[in-house]
Amino acid sequence: MKALVLSGGKGTRLRPITYTSAKQLVPVANKPILFRVIETIQEVGITEIGVVLGDTGHEIRQAVGSGKRWGVNLTFIEQEAPLGLAHAVKVSRDFLGDDRFVMFLGDNCIQGGIGPLVEQFDHHRYNAQIVLKQVNDPRQFGVADIDDDGRIARLVEKPRVPQSDLALVGIYLFDSSIWEAVEQIRPSFRGELEITDAIQWLIEHGHRVYPYIHEGWWIDTGKKDDLLEANRLVLEELHGAIEGYIDRDSQIIGRVTVERGAEIINSTIRGPAIIGEHTRVLNSYIGPFTSIYHHCLIESSEIEHSIVLESCTIRDLPHRLEDSLIGRNVDIARSPFKPRAYRLTLGDNSSVGVL
Ligand code: TTP
Repeated sequence: MKALVLSGGKGTRLRPITYTSAKQLVPVANKPILFRVIETIQEVGITEIGVVLGDTGHEIRQAVGSGKRWGVNLTFIEQEAPLGLAHAVKVSRDFLGDDRFVMFLGDNCIQGGIGPLVEQFDHHRYNAQIVLKQVNDPRQFGVADIDDDGRIARLVEKPRVPQSDLALVGIYLFDSSIWEAVEQIRPSFRGELEITDAIQWLIEHGHRVYPYIHEGWWIDTGKKDDLLEANRLVLEELHGAIEGYIDRDSQIIGRVTVERGAEIINSTIRGPAIIGEHTRVLNSYIGPFTSIYHHCLIESSEIEHSIVLESCTIRDLPHRLEDSLIGRNVDIARSPFKPRAYRLTLGDNSSVGVL
């Protein structure tokens, strides 16, 4: 069995972060989501993984390398434009051949891995198996109807009147019957080859398409709030480990990871939280569900329920920073200049909440 990870796309919902970097490389609990996806696949013993790339391909290649560090072989597949999930499958034909494969969206986080799913798919020899999750408001998702025999009878994108509360999660298993489906379908109204149309084609042409209902959490990290939620859920599962330096005036409460080379000076860290390599936290408070990535300086400030990317400086904030996603190399400080005013340099599509 092989795996296909989709890491192209536009990432419009995560601007401005995605103007300068791939959304699949945004860290959740200080590890890029894509790395978590590769680990999830490697855990079930799949070693041949195709990675579909778009405009951010160069950065993704650099970040993951050959795959050796996970003991897998990565094959990079260029998609000339983000023309849809089924298009991404189509351009991966040479890599996948006639093998069965698991397809994973490169910006999704799932609890507990895919072991039972892959086992079921192997055992039953289904043509396709689609991971579904019960959600509160199915109207925002692709939704599956299940028939009396337990098969998927129909898929509907964002239904106004949903027939079930089972949403498509972004993990799919296929056999070679998918090739005819992706050839037969036509672009949707948004100009993309939709994977839901390809699956619907399989259903209508008598193929065996079954659901797999996932019980744990699952998050599509496409938007800021989802990313913070994924960070919260992954931090919840972290055991905590202190590899950096903590001085005697600091307090560590609950499950906290302080990575190699990090320094905590006269500060309080209340877990679950993670402080990245070579980051300094000075006279500060870091609250629950916060991930500070590597090479940052946090001084005389309070941060909670936030993700801070690498090489940021945050100093002398008069109020606590909360529910925030801070990009790379960002400098936030209280200005010493008069008159007192907000002085901002923000990228396009930034959003700032002021007091
Ligand atoms: P989406 O999040 O559905 O699409 P997107 O990345 O274009 O984001 P946005 O809606 O914010 O503009 O994509 C899911 C995953 O699949 C993501 O990791 C990107 C990847 N993808 C491809 O590799 N090729 C494609 O053609 C598309 C549409 C997505």
